[in-house]
Amino acid sequence: MVTWSDLRREPFRLFFPLGILGGLVGSIHWLAYAAGWTSSSGFYHASIQVGAYMSLFIVGFLLTALPRFTSAPPATSAELIVILALCLAQPLCLSLGYWIAGEACFMGILLALAAFALRRVARRRAEVSPPTEFVWIPIGILHGLTGTSLLILGQAGLLPAWALAVGRPMAQQGFLFSIVIGVGGFMAPRLMGRGMLPATPTGVSEAHARRVRMRRVAWHVVAGLVFFTSFWVEGRGAVGWAYRLRALLLTVELAWTSRFYLPPASPERYVRFLWVSLWMIVIGFWGAGLAMRFRVAMLHLAFLGGLSLMTFAVATMVVLSHAGEGWRLRQPLWVLRVIGAGIAVAIAARLAADFMPNRFFTLLGLAAFAWSAAGVSWFVFALPFVVRQVSSAAFDEMHEEAKRRLLK
Ligand code: HEM
Repeated sequence: MVTWSDLRREPFRLFFPLGILGGLVGSIHWLAYAAGWTSSSGFYHASIQVGAYMSLFIVGFLLTALPRFTSAPPATSAELIVILALCLAQPLCLSLGYWIAGEACFMGILLALAAFALRRVARRRAEVSPPTEFVWIPIGILHGLTGTSLLILGQAGLLPAWALAVGRPMAQQGFLFSIVIGVGGFMAPRLMGRGMLPATPTGVSEAHARRVRMRRVAWHVVAGLVFFTSFWVEGRGAVGWAYRLRALLLTVELAWTSRFYLPPASPERYVRFLWVSLWMIVIGFWGAGLAMRFRVAMLHLAFLGGLSLMTFAVATMVVLSHAGEGWRLRQPLWVLRVIGAGIAVAIAARLAADFMPNRFFTLLGLAAFAWSAAGVSWFVFALPFVVRQVSSAAFDEMHEEAKRRLLK
């Protein structure tokens, strides 16, 4: 069984299973509404999916990966306890209807994550340079913090309605998709085995390599500013333009960093899922920008087929490789079949709901059921690997090997 020090070293063991539970809370909500057991709240659903499902996967991944990428110490007990407490308090507050308290917890999680990342970057070994794409992590945190502040001020009546129109999508889409560009843009090409930009250019002088890195960071920051601006454009009422701008930016960034337009060279199913998820994000945002009447349905291509499929794919890879069972990724895995089918049905039903208004809630219930079946299956599959302890020596060797592969 894993110990507390294993959890500090690999916090994903705690946060991934909790993230699935968060996703179930956010989905079963629609199932319960379709069955007539609860009242519906789109805001509750969106806040839980972003704050208690996706964010927990992001937190679990970054708390595990950042110390390794920067060769810095793992999470301390205090860091882990604070973030965990906030992650548990947030869905509780939202479920009790204390919106502002729940949103304050979300801000607390982002601040704690920022402090954690800053400490690791400050304590990294001098020769270690984090991937340039990771500049999107602070950009994402900035979107989350600014968006949530506007949301809170709008809800408290201290700012007019425009604050809600800017803040909500900025806190939700702005935060999530910045992290996708940063972490996905770096990892996807490496896992797909396709033409990646080396983390640090090789075969050139140190000064030249530094200039190339600075130029790349500057481009990402400019793109981050354009992304940030798109939410103010949305708040001004030019919703279609805002989504088209976001779609263009996601297409260009993901094409640059991960060349998603090329099929992956690796045949593993989880890698194929990752590739499909990049396409779904791009298609979903273009769909939202071009078919405005179906904006929310189109966005679910990016949420279900993009974020959710990507999370299942990466989490399966992380969980198996950290249990010393990476070889399984090259075998046909039953759980990935169930996930593929569950996500496909959930997308079809979620899209159909907007075209069949008289069956709207029944179809939402079906989508929620299909996603939940995938989520529960992943939980059952992953749990034995998540709780399995790996010796320190095996762990270090595994991680060094993974890092060499990713940073080469
Ligand atoms: C499991 C099946 C799902 C169903 C049936 C579903 C259904 C819905 C519905 C009906 C809305 C509109 C709510 C309203 O504002 O009245 C909505 C919005 C939203 N959903 Fe989902 N959803 C599902 C999965 C997901 C997932 C997996 C995510 C995140 C990864 C997600 C994130 C969101 C967000 C952020 C919004 C707000 C969109 C906006 O208005 O900008 N949903 N969902």
